[in-house]
Amino acid sequence: MTSYIDVKNLSKNFEAINAVKEISLQVEQGEVLGFLGPNGAGKSTTMKMITGYLTPSSGAISIAGINILQDPISAQRHIGYLPEGAPAYGEMTTYKYLDFIASIRRIPRKDKKDRINNIIDRINLNSVANRKIEDLSKGYKRRVGLAQAIIHDPNILIMDEPTDGLDPNQKHEIRSLIREMAPKKAIIISTHILEEVDAVCTSTAIIDMGQIIFTGTPRQLAALSRYHDALNIVVKIEDAEKTKKIIGEQSDDSKVEEIYSGNEIRITAPLKNRKPCSDVIQAALSREKIVPREYFFEKGRLDQVFRDLTSSAQDSIKETP
Ligand SMILES: Nc1ncnc2c1ncn2[C@@H]1O[C@H](COP(=O)(O)OP(=O)(O)OP(=O)(O)O)[C@@H](O)[C@H]1O
Ligand SMILES: [Mg+2]
Repeated sequence: MTSYIDVKNLSKNFEAINAVKEISLQVEQGEVLGFLGPNGAGKSTTMKMITGYLTPSSGAISIAGINILQDPISAQRHIGYLPEGAPAYGEMTTYKYLDFIASIRRIPRKDKKDRINNIIDRINLNSVANRKIEDLSKGYKRRVGLAQAIIHDPNILIMDEPTDGLDPNQKHEIRSLIREMAPKKAIIISTHILEEVDAVCTSTAIIDMGQIIFTGTPRQLAALSRYHDALNIVVKIEDAEKTKKIIGEQSDDSKVEEIYSGNEIRITAPLKNRKPCSDVIQAALSREKIVPREYFFEKGRLDQVFRDLTSSAQDSIKETP
């Protein structure tokens, strides 16, 4: 079976800058790949090459089995692309712009009106349908960009920070829309919002200084966290000492963290062995008549794993005078 998106050993050099180095990726139908990485890591450059807007220095890209370097027009028919920033043609109204894109995308004249109105409804663009794009707020411009990316119902969607600049309600709406579209498409989204990875992605790839340093599911990424499977327990301050002693016996002391907040304490502790240690802790708490306000095991913290994995780039920023 050919992958919807198949990228092999892709590199891009901008004179002395090696922006992307020998990247390989496959994305299948039904997959939403979260493409993560610090600023300047090479996400947008990679996406521009996958969509045929930038010629690679070397490597191969196959879109629905079509070599995009040899036949960009055929390959691009399968692709919806939301680039960084705002859509061009700011002097057009939202409706006119979508009408223009629908024509370029060869949507039959008889279907065009319905298709545009449907997209305008789905992305909540009704209130700005007749306003010029250049006069819209940043979030609305972003939403118009999204609308043009999906108007031809492509089976491959490449979205560069799709929720950047959106308010929380719109972020939620757009994530729901991505989840709803996902089963029939292969989707790549780049994002800096790690909760988005949990909310919509089925797989993740982390790029750092032009190289892929992790691929796997969000769950596998979270499992790299030092907080993966750590017990989180919140008790009243007066129970703190007894609770700390009970927890301390079941975990490595050096890894236990405490945060005091008001009249409560939160203890985060990776246990030596989750189930048996948890049973011992619960029995001991109950003997002491301590009732925790919270008691759960963490999946892991994506933000901490991300920082740990990509710290080399951060270090080089720190070293810059
Ligand atoms: N046209 C260009 N000419 C020269 N250098 C470029 C060009 N486009 C990108 N770069 C460089 O390539 C590297 C990767 O940039 P890219 O925009 O792909 O990063 P990114 O991961 O999308 O970052 P961000 O999270 O900030 O959007 C950076 O060092 C950038 O300065
Ligand atoms: Mg970018």
